[in-house]
Amino acid sequence: MYKICLLPGDGIGPEVIAAAKDVLTALPVEWDFTEFGIGFGEYQRSGSPLPDSTLQAILHADAALFGAVTTPPNIPNYFSPVVRMRQSLDLYANLRPTRSIPHSSSRAGIDMLIVRENTEGLYSGIERVEEDGDRAITERVITRKGSERIIRKAFDLARQTGRKSVHVVHKANVLRQTCGLFRMVAFEIAKEYPEITMNEMLVDTCAMELVRAPEQFEVIVTTNLFGDILSDEACMFVGGLGVAASGNIGADAAVFEPVHGSAPTLVGTGKANPTATFLAAAMMLEYLGENEQSARLRNAVETCIASGQVTPDLGGSLTTGEMTKTVIQRI
Ligand code: NAI
Ligand code: MG
Repeated sequence: MYKICLLPGDGIGPEVIAAAKDVLTALPVEWDFTEFGIGFGEYQRSGSPLPDSTLQAILHADAALFGAVTTPPNIPNYFSPVVRMRQSLDLYANLRPTRSIPHSSSRAGIDMLIVRENTEGLYSGIERVEEDGDRAITERVITRKGSERIIRKAFDLARQTGRKSVHVVHKANVLRQTCGLFRMVAFEIAKEYPEITMNEMLVDTCAMELVRAPEQFEVIVTTNLFGDILSDEACMFVGGLGVAASGNIGADAAVFEPVHGSAPTLVGTGKANPTATFLAAAMMLEYLGENEQSARLRNAVETCIASGQVTPDLGGSLTTGEMTKTVIQRI
């Protein structure tokens, strides 16, 4: 029995999370689901977009599945619950699998995993303005500990999934200290994985190579900002936002989510594509060690896509609920 914390959030979040719950329930796995609040709706109800009870629930669950939140217009004491959640729970690894889908919008032959550092780098939150607003500074913090754990996570995942290479992406020729440390740690860690080839690549070269020949990459590991950009770039080769899923992994908690936002204009129309959340649920199954069920769910989703039984964003005519039913039938 797995304890799963569901975090529906705002907009289409509740619609895609309900769909994923139905699909997970159709698998031969025992679930104990509990829902907790996050986002703007939760702020309006309780005064906080991320109540402590929600954080505690994520910590005490085996894993969490998160929909999406809406960012409200300027509210002084409002904070991003997604960023806060990643920081509070130290969810240091952001995983973005990028895999071809059987659809005309997807290139073939791609199966890569982008592993992005999620807690430091240029997003450490150390910023200031000087000289009466004419000079703004952001500090880029890279630590040995932060680099070690993300690089080790990338090599561990490569090993677990039978991949043969890891690309360490940096800009150490210019950012000599911060990227220099990240790069040096990568060379140290790579020695512990003799069966895996480590390739280093400058981030600008990587951006180019991703467009030229994305199938060359198996695992990419990189710092926060670079990973943010490269993972969004990469997902456009394999179907885009409707199907892109991600995981945020820490030592004590894990939160899986679709990459898309709350898509306010789609609420209640039945047009929200649940695929990204289904694939996030498949990642969650893999994290829980249910590899067979994960593959089963992914196969069911891919068969639907291949036969055109999809929502309008992928050229089909099914509603969220109809596509969910079809996936369940295929399971
Ligand atoms: P969005 O991802 O919600 O929508 C971008 C475009 O993709 C829209 O045209 C939307 O209709 C479409 N789309 C998104 N998800 C879809 C799905 N499942 N099926 C079919 N089409 C889909 O991004 P946008 O419009 O920039 O932001 C809307 C709200 O979401 C904002 O308040 C933003 O701050 C928030 N947001 C939240 C995120 C999160 O919770 N992790 C991530 C990104 C944005
Ligand atoms: Mg992004």
